[in-house]
Amino acid sequence: MGKVQALVCVRCGRSYADGEVLYTCPSCGPTGILDVAYDYEAIAAAGFGPKSLAADPDRSHWRYRDLLPIGDGAELPPVPVGDTPVFQIPGLARALEVEEVWIKDEGRNPTGSFKDRASSVAAVKARELGFRTVCCASTGNAASSLAGFAVQLGLETYIFVPEFAPEPKVAQLLIYGATVFVVEGSYRHAYQLCMEAADAFGWYNRSAAINPVPVEGKKTAGLEIAEQMTEQLPDWVSVSVGDGCTIAGIWKGLKEMHRFGVIDGLPRLLGTQAEGAAPLARAFRDGTEDWEPVEAKTLADSIAVGSPGNGLKALRAVRESGGAFIAVSDREILDAERELGSFGVFGEPAGAAGVAGIKRARREGLIAADQRLLHVLTGTGLKDVKAAVRAAQQQAIHVSPSLDSVKAVLKDVPR
Ligand SMILES: Cc1ncc(COP(=O)(O)O)c(C=O)c1O
Ligand SMILES: [Zn+2]
Repeated sequence: MGKVQALVCVRCGRSYADGEVLYTCPSCGPTGILDVAYDYEAIAAAGFGPKSLAADPDRSHWRYRDLLPIGDGAELPPVPVGDTPVFQIPGLARALEVEEVWIKDEGRNPTGSFKDRASSVAAVKARELGFRTVCCASTGNAASSLAGFAVQLGLETYIFVPEFAPEPKVAQLLIYGATVFVVEGSYRHAYQLCMEAADAFGWYNRSAAINPVPVEGKKTAGLEIAEQMTEQLPDWVSVSVGDGCTIAGIWKGLKEMHRFGVIDGLPRLLGTQAEGAAPLARAFRDGTEDWEPVEAKTLADSIAVGSPGNGLKALRAVRESGGAFIAVSDREILDAERELGSFGVFGEPAGAAGVAGIKRARREGLIAADQRLLHVLTGTGLKDVKAAVRAAQQQAIHVSPSLDSVKAVLKDVPR
């Protein structure tokens, strides 16, 4: 038996052998998300653990390949993923009135978002399974990163994006050579069409809402946080939430590092949703595992998900951690983007949303003043320049090429 022990349905608990099922539980249908279960004893017996990690010179996220559902001989894409920095911002901690705030800047990944962790693993898996074509429905980041990694492995990529996908994300898709379908409608329509096309044409569907592999890639952020913060593990890890795979993946990674003895405790999770797309925040508040899908409405396109595919995993992760979900308005998200900018950090609205979440959680007394937090900034601000310009609340000033023109402007500016 390999390192993957089984694929386990999060709804009914049925187990499937590795390779027996590609996407969701045949018995539960699309809501029966599978979770990859590993034989941790075998992985430890084969030498993986704190010692092997310390000795491994590879700083990219492939250093965790023993904990990923890919074969030892799998071809890896050459552009490195992960190893993103964590750094403290004392000014932000003061502004948020907490003890410490750390940022893990996932915008430093090759295509500018956290999604590279998931897409790189999914592309490797597609190649390993013998697929020649991959596809994905996405509001942007998952798609652009899939295109960026599939192209490195010689795979063809078909992408379905909703109409509101920001232009820079679509530009990335085109530059990586993907075929892009802009679907007239919402993310839900794009998602459904992608499912049908994958089925009809035999493409590998990377959509994390049904495919258990991408979440495993997302897990590497949790593994990395544990290694980077071993001696100073934060009390809270904050993540913005759309489909729920990111927060669930990070939690799984943290737990694995706990299991392997890299960290001796676990942080709480704070999941932030946009008010216009907050079914999980509502389910959390109501103490249920069920939610009504909503028509998502938020400018934070990456978390504009009304029917979260991995919601169950996300809710369980947050509850198991003793953490919380919170919802914030678009205004709060833009303010948070500007505030991050004032500390030299540029995140896209979905990335900044979590900072707004921390602020709100403080106000509501969910997080105490003596707490230390790490926020996972999931995407660079260059992913959505229109939102950034709105957030900035100031315009560029047009002048003629003369010093007088500059002086005329400056005389009105208080200095
Ligand atoms: C920048 C950014 N932040 C947060 C998320 C939320 O991740 P998830 O949908 O896995 O909850 C996404 C997902 O697209 C994203 O692109
Ligand atoms: Zn099931």
